[in-house]
Amino acid sequence: MKPNKKLLPEIRDRYSPRKFKEKKIEKEKIDLILEAARWAPSGFNNQPWRYIVVDKKSKNRKELEDSLMPGNGWAKTAPLLLVCFTNKKFQRSGNKIPYHIYDSALSVMNLTIEAENQGLKSHQMGGFFGKKVKEALSVPDDYDILVVIAVGYEDKELWLIQKMGEGIRNKLFKPRQRKPIEEIAFYDDFKIAQ
Ligand SMILES: Cc1cc2nc3c(=O)[nH]c(=O)nc-3n(C[C@H](O)[C@H](O)[C@H](O)COP(=O)(O)O)c2cc1C
Repeated sequence: MKPNKKLLPEIRDRYSPRKFKEKKIEKEKIDLILEAARWAPSGFNNQPWRYIVVDKKSKNRKELEDSLMPGNGWAKTAPLLLVCFTNKKFQRSGNKIPYHIYDSALSVMNLTIEAENQGLKSHQMGGFFGKKVKEALSVPDDYDILVVIAVGYEDKELWLIQKMGEGIRNKLFKPRQRKPIEEIAFYDDFKIAQ
């Protein structure tokens, strides 16, 4: 089940890679993906998202890498680790939904799509130790860390892939899966899948 070919290429061809080239990302491209994040919509235009950019030379790089859960060791190859935070103060909504999380996630999606447009790949991670990340990056209490995003040019060299552990290799070659459209979108009213 492949994505429909008519989809926007940045949506159709996006996937989360596990191996990046050492190649540095051009500053202009970093600016553009952050600019894309900036223009996301948000409730009351609150813009609760904040990003910290950590490259290979950043003084906090090692600490941030050590804050990732062991299964995310592959992310160390990424030239850029972006950390997205969301401001918890922006809880205001009539229906108790914490929209600041929704808003910040929209900004991450904007960033992800622009990264594809710039020929970059990104891989989001929820697998981190939040307290460690907050300490490493001196984050104020008002902010929760949502996600760490590995960004870079994907490395598809076969010999590198062969060197990887079997677990990661299997994930790399597994076809991407999604629920069928009938299970996620309905006409008229909610329908429970049989
Ligand atoms: C909020 C969030 C957290 C994720 N956490 C991790 C993670 O900790 N480690 C990882 O390898 N992938 C992580 N992923 C990537 C997902 O596993 C991946 O997006 C999903 O399997 C779909 O694959 P695709 O992005 O290639 O389409 C995360 C994705 C999201 C959106």
